[in-house]
Amino acid sequence: MHSPINGLTFCIHTFGCQMNKHDSERIAGMLEALGALMVETVEESDVVVFMTCCVREAADTRLYGQVASMKNIPLRAESPLSKRVIAVGGCIGQRDGGKLTEALPHLDVVFGTHNLGSLPRLLEAAIEGQGKQVEVLAASSEFPTELPTSREHSWAAWLPITIGCNNFCSYCIVPYVRGRERSRRADDIVREADELVKSGVKEIMLIGQNVNSYGLDSDEGVSFAQLLHRVSQTGIERIRFMTSHPKDLSDALIDEMAHNPAVAPHLHLPVQAGSNRILQAMNRRYTREQYLEKVQKLRAAIPHIGLTTDLIVAFPGETEAEFEDTLSLVEQVRYDSAYTFIYSPRKGTRAAEMPGRIAPDVASARIERLIALQEKITGEVLASMRGEIVQALVEGVSRRRENQLTGKTGRNINVNFNGAPDDIGKMVRVRITGAGSNTLRGEKVEE
Ligand code: SAH
Ligand code: SF4
Ligand code: F3S
Repeated sequence: MHSPINGLTFCIHTFGCQMNKHDSERIAGMLEALGALMVETVEESDVVVFMTCCVREAADTRLYGQVASMKNIPLRAESPLSKRVIAVGGCIGQRDGGKLTEALPHLDVVFGTHNLGSLPRLLEAAIEGQGKQVEVLAASSEFPTELPTSREHSWAAWLPITIGCNNFCSYCIVPYVRGRERSRRADDIVREADELVKSGVKEIMLIGQNVNSYGLDSDEGVSFAQLLHRVSQTGIERIRFMTSHPKDLSDALIDEMAHNPAVAPHLHLPVQAGSNRILQAMNRRYTREQYLEKVQKLRAAIPHIGLTTDLIVAFPGETEAEFEDTLSLVEQVRYDSAYTFIYSPRKGTRAAEMPGRIAPDVASARIERLIALQEKITGEVLASMRGEIVQALVEGVSRRRENQLTGKTGRNINVNFNGAPDDIGKMVRVRITGAGSNTLRGEKVEE
C-alpha cells in the first residue's frame, strides 16, 4: 500500500521525561516503516513532530513560540509538499487538543499520549488535503510498545513496563495527561527484553512513572522485584529502572537489587521535600523518617549504591524552616546528584489552589542554596571514588578530547578515559583516577 508519507523527511523535537523520549522512538519507528527518512533539522524536514511536556510552566509557554516560528522557515526546495506539515503530540497535545489548532493556525495535526499509533493516519489525511486533524483519546486502547521502534543507540534501550500514574501528587499534572496506571504483561516485557538482548543490547532501562507499583493493577501476580528477576534471566548485562516512588519501594526489591549482579547499583528515589508537613501537602504518602529508613536499608544491603533524587523548592506555604528541612535531608542522604525544581503551579492540580504562593526572588534564593549544597556533596562523593574499579558502558568519543571515550558507570556517572572507538557500545572495566565537578576520569583496566 502506498503511503503519502513514503519518501518524506521528518524530524522530532522531544521534551520532557523518558516516557516522551521513548514515545518519540516509536514515532520514528512508525514513520521509517512507512518509508520516511529521519533528518536533523527543521530546514531539511517535510514533517516536524513536537513531543511536548507540560510538567512545569516554562516548557509549556515555550512550545507555542516554537511552533509559531516554524512558519518562517522555508520548505526544502525538493519537497513534494506545498507546505511543511506540523504535528504536536505528547502531554500538551493530550491536555489542549483542538485549542492548539485555534491558537496556532498553521498547525496541521494534534494527537495525545493515548494514540501514538494514529499519527501516521492523521499525517496522511493532512497531507492529502483533508484539513486539520485533531485526535485525542481519553484512555489508551493499545500499549504503545507494540509499535516499531527506532533507537538512538544500538546497545541501550528503554522498555516501558507501566504507563500512567495513580499517585496524584498534589503539584503534578502527569496523572491528568498520561491517565491511570496500567501494567504491561510480564510475558510481553520479558519477550521484548529477550529480543533486545539477541539484537546486541547491553543495557535495558525499565520505565514507568512509578515502576515500584508494577503489577498492582493486574491479576498476574508478578511484583516489580519478580519482574526484575525475570528480565535479568534473559542474560542482559545491565538493568536500570525509573522512576521509583519511595512509598512503594519494597524490601523484596532491595533484596533483588542486592543479589542480582545485572541490576545497576543506582536508584533514582525522588524525595521532593524534607519537611513532613510539605510532604503531606504534596500527597507523597511517606514521612521524612520513613524515607530515611528506606535509604538506610538500601545502603546496608548495597553498600556501593548511588542515590539520586528530585527536589521541589517553594511549594505553596513552604516556610524558611521547612525549606531548611530539605537542606538537612540532602545533607543526611548525600545523593550522587539531584534534579532541583522551583514549584510551578499547574492548572487543574490541587496545589495550584493552595494559598501561600512563594515570591519568585525567595524561590530563586532557595533553589540556589540547594544547588550549591548538592554541588558540594556531588564533588565530595565523586572525589571519594578515586581508586575504585567500575564497569562502564562506553557511549562514545568524549566531547572535549578526541582520544578519550566517555562511558556511564553502574551508578550512572559519566567517566572519561583513554581508549579507541571500537570500545563504543561495550562494557569495559575502568579504574577511577580522578574527578571533576560532575564527571569522573579513569583508565581502562585490560582484562
Ligand atoms: N513519575 C516521576 C516523574 C515525575 S515528573 C516521579 O514521580 O518522580 C519529574 C519531576 O518533576 C518530579 O519528580 C518533580 O520533582 C518535578 N515536578 C513535577 N511537577 C512539578 C511542578 N508542578 N513544579 C515543579 N516541579 C515539578
Ligand atoms: Fe507525578 Fe507523583 Fe505520579 Fe510522579 S508519582 S508522575 S510526581 S503524580
Ligand atoms: Fe512531561 Fe508528560 Fe513526562 S508532562 S514529564 S512528558 S509524562
